[in-house]
Amino acid sequence: MTVASVSNIQDKYKEIDIQCGSIVKNSEFESILKTFHQLKRSDLFITKNADKLKLYLHTVDINELNEIKKESQFQLMDQIIDEIQKIGSYGLKDGKRLFVGFNKERKVLDRKSKEEKRTRYFYTKDNQFSEINNILPEKFVNKIICGDSQEVLSLLPDNCIDLIFTSPPYNFGLSYDKQNDESHWEEYFIKLFNVFSECIRVLKYSGRIIVNVQPLFSDYIPSHHIISNYFIKNKLIWKGEILWEKNNYNCKYTAWGSYKSPSSPYLKYTWEFLEIFAKGNLRKQGLKENIDITPDEFKNWVFAKWSIAPERNMKQYHHPAMFPEELARRVIKLFSYQDDIILDPFNGVGTTSLVAKKNQRRFLGIDISEDYCKIAEKRLEEILL
Ligand SMILES: C[S@@+](CC[C@H](N)C(=O)[O-])C[C@H]1O[C@@H](n2cnc3c(N)ncnc32)[C@H](O)[C@@H]1O
Repeated sequence: MTVASVSNIQDKYKEIDIQCGSIVKNSEFESILKTFHQLKRSDLFITKNADKLKLYLHTVDINELNEIKKESQFQLMDQIIDEIQKIGSYGLKDGKRLFVGFNKERKVLDRKSKEEKRTRYFYTKDNQFSEINNILPEKFVNKIICGDSQEVLSLLPDNCIDLIFTSPPYNFGLSYDKQNDESHWEEYFIKLFNVFSECIRVLKYSGRIIVNVQPLFSDYIPSHHIISNYFIKNKLIWKGEILWEKNNYNCKYTAWGSYKSPSSPYLKYTWEFLEIFAKGNLRKQGLKENIDITPDEFKNWVFAKWSIAPERNMKQYHHPAMFPEELARRVIKLFSYQDDIILDPFNGVGTTSLVAKKNQRRFLGIDISEDYCKIAEKRLEEILL
């Protein structure tokens, strides 16, 4: 083999040695080779030299390997697959593990010094947030409280909540139990920001607030921008944005605006936004043993476009605007530690609280409707932990 082809292999594959303990029988190796031949050689292959096996990995479909493992008669095959599973450093592409080239980034020369020159999140530098966190009084822990959020939150101490995840009423004209969902927009934002101002106060230093927003495009009100602007003005750090792709093509096909004319075409959307903010510091401290996100979950979910179907059981829970449990699960596992306190100030029928409980977090859920709070309590009681 030439030097050029060796370096080519090193560029294209991750090499791992499999320690076999004893000489590998030819018949056993032949069978393993046969199995590997069913897979694409450009994805992975294996070589043998006496008792040494070498694996060359590029792209691996773990589900396919697990199927092979189920059918294999050789312990060595199981060992090889286990060794592949143990490798922690990989990227994900089309659901397959990518072992080379996944961490290459476009190079920016002197990235660090350029970052220093630009400065990061300049808009929060003069914030007055205290770094001292407080304990949430026991009477609010793991509770669903019926009331106006602004009022209920005013009873909480400063800096006592780890993560706030919520979707406020969107002012679309939905038929909520208690909420008037058709206010003048200015009035709507005044009320919403009164609640958010309390949210910022009760959030711990380095805590996060994540708001799920669907703008009302037909009123030309960019609620996600207006809300983000509010948090930025109030010195929170914009950590990022997740696009929740609902794939619900149920937006009206007959609503074209100016049909077949550039005068005012109407745009249609199948997604919502999650705007993410941090108070004072982007880095949230927590105990290592309270991290519960798996490597695959982490690698999939940091790609900030989440394809999740909308909640299908709204009729069953008598609520017109629930988000699905999967959305809350991803937010909670990606942005909080087990045992953290998770608040939803517009808790509806309790999806955030329910998912927090299922994932060993503590919760506080507030909603203005007694009926929604009762349903939330019932859903919580029904969890089998
Ligand atoms: C979009 S829904 C949230 C649904 C929730 N994410 C779920 O999955 O069940 C918004 C909720 O905010 C509640 N709400 C509106 N104004 C409120 C206020 N001032 N204080 C507390 N809750 C309020 C409404 O009753 C409604 O249930």
